[in-house]
Amino acid sequence: MDEPSAYAALQRALCDLPCPLRLQIGNHDDRADFLAAVPDHPRGADGFIDYAETVEGTRLIYLDTTTPRAHAGHFCPTRRNCLAAELKTCDRARIFVHHNVMPLGLPAEDNIALIPEDHASLARLLTQHRGRIDYIHLGHVLHSFTASMRHSLCSVRSTGNQFLLDLSKRDLLQGAPMAPSYCVIVADDADTVIHEIPFTWDGPIFNTSTAWDDWAKPVAAE
Ligand SMILES: [Fe+2]
Repeated sequence: MDEPSAYAALQRALCDLPCPLRLQIGNHDDRADFLAAVPDHPRGADGFIDYAETVEGTRLIYLDTTTPRAHAGHFCPTRRNCLAAELKTCDRARIFVHHNVMPLGLPAEDNIALIPEDHASLARLLTQHRGRIDYIHLGHVLHSFTASMRHSLCSVRSTGNQFLLDLSKRDLLQGAPMAPSYCVIVADDADTVIHEIPFTWDGPIFNTSTAWDDWAKPVAAE
């Protein structure tokens, strides 16, 4: 499947979603093809797919960390200045970004994180505004993790492949479509709860009440 037809397939899959839809591009995307397929999608004045909106008092900031034909993330001064302007003018923010913005202690994955030159300057900016950033949500790593590394961070599993955790020095990424899922974030101005929802299970499920006598007797659904 070439990329334009992939975007067309994505649009068909998403067109009936009963909620507002925001897209972000990652390292496998082509910015021009994306914009051709979704011409009305918000974008920054700088030409990147970075934009922001305020929802119930929180500035939701969507970053574009891609560069052509590279798996590692990039965040040039132009994009950094846009983010700085957003952070400077909001009280509370939640950031969505494709690449992991810091090393994770996984050598192969860290090879394709945000490049070190851009990582340091972004880390300084995020630290400067840490008091107003509620959470940073990542993709790219393909497996789920939560972390507190100056900020609260969360990554979601991919809806396709997941990588195998590998803390060794190997330069090899290994993965398989083991357990795809998506996340639902429940948040208000004080708290964040992130629910991970696996969606490929098609076997029986049980129903049980929370009363003590029922707890040990799950009933298989038909
Ligand atoms: Fe990625």
